[in-house]
Amino acid sequence: MEEKPKYRYKALHDLNPSLYDKAWNLSMAFDNMVFCMKNIGSISSPTRFTNSSIKKEYFDIRKKLDSLLEENQNSEHSRATVVSDMAGLIEYSVVRASKPDIVVETGVANGYSTAVILSALEKNTNGKLVSVEISKNVGRLVDMLCIGKERWELVVGKPRENLVQALDREKRIDIFIHDSDHSYENMKFEFQEAYKRIRDGGFLMSDDIFWNKKSAFVDFSRAIGAKPSIFPSSNKSFGIIKINKKQNGNETL
Ligand SMILES: C[S@@+](CC[C@H](N)C(=O)[O-])C[C@H]1O[C@@H](n2cnc3c(N)ncnc32)[C@H](O)[C@@H]1O
Repeated sequence: MEEKPKYRYKALHDLNPSLYDKAWNLSMAFDNMVFCMKNIGSISSPTRFTNSSIKKEYFDIRKKLDSLLEENQNSEHSRATVVSDMAGLIEYSVVRASKPDIVVETGVANGYSTAVILSALEKNTNGKLVSVEISKNVGRLVDMLCIGKERWELVVGKPRENLVQALDREKRIDIFIHDSDHSYENMKFEFQEAYKRIRDGGFLMSDDIFWNKKSAFVDFSRAIGAKPSIFPSSNKSFGIIKINKKQNGNETL
């Protein structure tokens, strides 16, 4: 659910609610665009996080996953939920390059991004992935691809509670990836909880950062003073922040 517009100018809203909402959406889109423009220096191509051999590994995995998806089209999760080519490449490359001990993600569905991350951990021969989901019947691509499954812990059930418990259990995490409920409130909650536990030099990533007109990812980046890398696309924009708590603040949204 999208955050309700704040009726700062209630009289104007009452005059014409539909026009007011249109203006609100436009101002949010403008705000996001201004933020992207201000951070233009850090909006870079995925090549910043990858190299040709890592790219090849990723596209080999992606080929296998795509043919598994093709063979099993009756999955209750559609292809539409699958992480984009570019977001997957960034996730894979950052995991390969930074060699994390603990990665936490939210949102599994078919298990596409999960399988991508597990493949990178397996290639590193190090690390564990904790995935937090609300649905039970998820992650079938992980079973089918069968790479790095022993590095995986799937936590299913109460979303926010389970996420906080998982983060508490691990104490310090290296990478957090959001791809679950994209409501403003939930994204804000997950970013804040994850940020408390991500080590300096670690990464916070999010898919679908412009799903809401008012972007929780942009607001969060502003609140901690971070300059994220943003990879805009017409339907699935991806964002990544390298955590530096001395430079970023400890403030939250
Ligand atoms: C966009 S899909 C994830 C796609 C997956 N990352 C991939 O690349 O294939 C979103 C998933 O998040 C789950 N979900 C929704 N709300 C959630 C929440 N609050 N916490 C955890 N998972 C949630 C849904 O059940 C769904 O499986």
